[in-house]
Amino acid sequence: MTALLEVRHATRIFDGLVAVDDVSFTLAPGEILGLIGPNGAGKTTLISLISGTLAPSEGEILFQDEVINRLPAFRRARLGIGRTFQIMRPFPGLSVLDNVAVGALFGRDGGQAKLAKAREQARVSLEFVGLGKDIDKRADELGGPGRKRLELAKALAMQPKVLLCDEVMAGLNHVEIEEVIEIIRKVRDQGISILVIEHVIKAIKSLSDRLLVLHHGEKIADGTPEAVLANPIVIEAYLGKKRA
Ligand SMILES: Nc1ncnc2c1ncn2[C@@H]1O[C@H](COP(=O)(O)OP(=O)(O)OP(=O)(O)O)[C@@H](O)[C@H]1O
Ligand SMILES: [Mg+2]
Repeated sequence: MTALLEVRHATRIFDGLVAVDDVSFTLAPGEILGLIGPNGAGKTTLISLISGTLAPSEGEILFQDEVINRLPAFRRARLGIGRTFQIMRPFPGLSVLDNVAVGALFGRDGGQAKLAKAREQARVSLEFVGLGKDIDKRADELGGPGRKRLELAKALAMQPKVLLCDEVMAGLNHVEIEEVIEIIRKVRDQGISILVIEHVIKAIKSLSDRLLVLHHGEKIADGTPEAVLANPIVIEAYLGKKRA
């Protein structure tokens, strides 16, 4: 199986700080890849390099064997790269439906989609994430869990081939986390590949086919969830160095 997405030696430096340091990995069609690492490890930066909100200082990003890292974010969205944002920024005064329609206009049908068609796509995505009954609410009337689902619906309305999820379970209780896990599994069952950042280890372990770990911007592990979570280097990254 060839990779759908390939990251080759990606590096991003912010004013001398190496946030992502020579990271390489692939994402296979239909795969759920979990991305973990302590706070500040470079996870969000890595997703931004893929989605195009940030440019790599070095390295390449390939999607369906094409080098895409010089394309702006909207072009990558049209190719089929969708993402959610850790810092959510819905248009508060717009309806839930229209917030998601914006995602549809930005995504794979971008440039040609008419508003009516975008709203139709938005309805499908909102139904899919369980917000079907909230479409006429204003986005700022949704609670925290609703906003996470809204963020997912926006990304799904882009009709992505790859979905990049940045902490869509943060702040949710365990029942809500289970529900989001089910949604992500259903997304994968539609043939969409997923890269998911998550701090809740139990959730990411049950969801992911493979785990990748970042620490100080470097990839320190990549393998099955069981192997990665038992890896002493990963345990040390999370718990800090043992005192002698
Ligand atoms: N736009 C930016 N300008 C300068 N430094 C940044 C910028 N974005 C991120 N950083 C720095 O890069 C490093 C990696 O940040 P990043 O947000 O990618 O980490 P993360 O793994 O997503 O962390 P968290 O788990 O807290 O979300 C951090 O030290 C952060 O302060
Ligand atoms: Mg982050």
